[in-house]
Amino acid sequence: MGRVFNFSAGPAALPLAVLEQAQAEMVDYQQSGMSVMEMSHRSKEYMAIIANAEELVRELMGISDKYHVLFQQGGATMQFTTVPMNLINDPANQSADYINTGSWSKKAIKEAKKQFQNVRISASSEGVNFSRIPTQQELKLNPASTYVHMTSNNTIFGTEFHYTPDTGSVPLVADMSSNILSRKIDVSKYGIIYAGAQKNLGPSGVTLVVVRKDLVGRCEGLPLMIDYQAQAEKESMLNTPPTYAIYILGLVLKWMKEQGGVAAIEERNIRKAAKLYAAIDGSSFYGCPTEVASRSRMNVPFTLKDDALNPTFLSQAKDAGLVTLKGHRSVGGMRASIYNAMPEEGVDALISFMNEFERKNG
Ligand SMILES: Cc1ncc(COP(=O)(O)O)c(C=O)c1O
Repeated sequence: MGRVFNFSAGPAALPLAVLEQAQAEMVDYQQSGMSVMEMSHRSKEYMAIIANAEELVRELMGISDKYHVLFQQGGATMQFTTVPMNLINDPANQSADYINTGSWSKKAIKEAKKQFQNVRISASSEGVNFSRIPTQQELKLNPASTYVHMTSNNTIFGTEFHYTPDTGSVPLVADMSSNILSRKIDVSKYGIIYAGAQKNLGPSGVTLVVVRKDLVGRCEGLPLMIDYQAQAEKESMLNTPPTYAIYILGLVLKWMKEQGGVAAIEERNIRKAAKLYAAIDGSSFYGCPTEVASRSRMNVPFTLKDDALNPTFLSQAKDAGLVTLKGHRSVGGMRASIYNAMPEEGVDALISFMNEFERKNG
């Protein structure tokens, strides 16, 4: 079977050029006589790989030296616990604000509640099945909170923040797992940014954490692996890091740079999303459950007029080389995840297929 267009929400499609380079270097990385997988993480070759990955993260995201860049394990889910444990440093202040915009926000909230007595929900769109993003005016923020947590893109519900919440002097913490490096952001507006790699950055197994230096070392006696201070001191090498995943992440970032960096990728992402939403909105056969102003550029949920057609749609799409389009059970219908690595031709092919399917079944 040839390569398909893979619309998976994650782990997701990687750029073909990255896979081909990894393949070429698989058994003998740059004349070292071994695979990156077999290399000591302390070797000269590997130290260069991880340093290069960090440098590219800093360059592409525009991260100043006021921030640490860490490569962690445990996925974004581990950060749901790690963030509160690192930031809760005042026994008298047990307050953290969470913006509830979907399933992943809810999971983050659940973990935070194990650490903080007072987890406040500053806004929630649960009442409308998370079909929209609360506006800045709707956020009820507590200026005394330890931090404000947001999920910048809601992978399951297909909504995305198109603004950065203004949280005053309270640090903003963002789970950017599903839209990191898909658009320009001003890192200086955030206290912590974290993202599991398996959508826009590389394979699963590594989690990128960008943390402002004044937010580490606030708490004594943390379990070593989740202590940002300890991780930063050892430059993510407190123990064996996920070496191969970091290597691939470095290749993905090199590819991004070759594509013209975040600005060029963002332009393409805007174009891809706009044409897919236009195809959905332009037909009475397809529908989209999300509010127009809140729509995600990364995850596009859509429904068919008749749910009974879903299995046929999925199987015919698969025959056409368009796979992993089934929507999440909490939304139903379909979901096309069109991360950075999804080429524009993949979106074009999906739109053509949708038009044809409508013509035959509409
Ligand atoms: C927005 C968001 N946060 C968190 C997670 C959980 O990530 P992980 O599996 O890396 O723990 C996901 C996974 O899909 C996600 O989309």
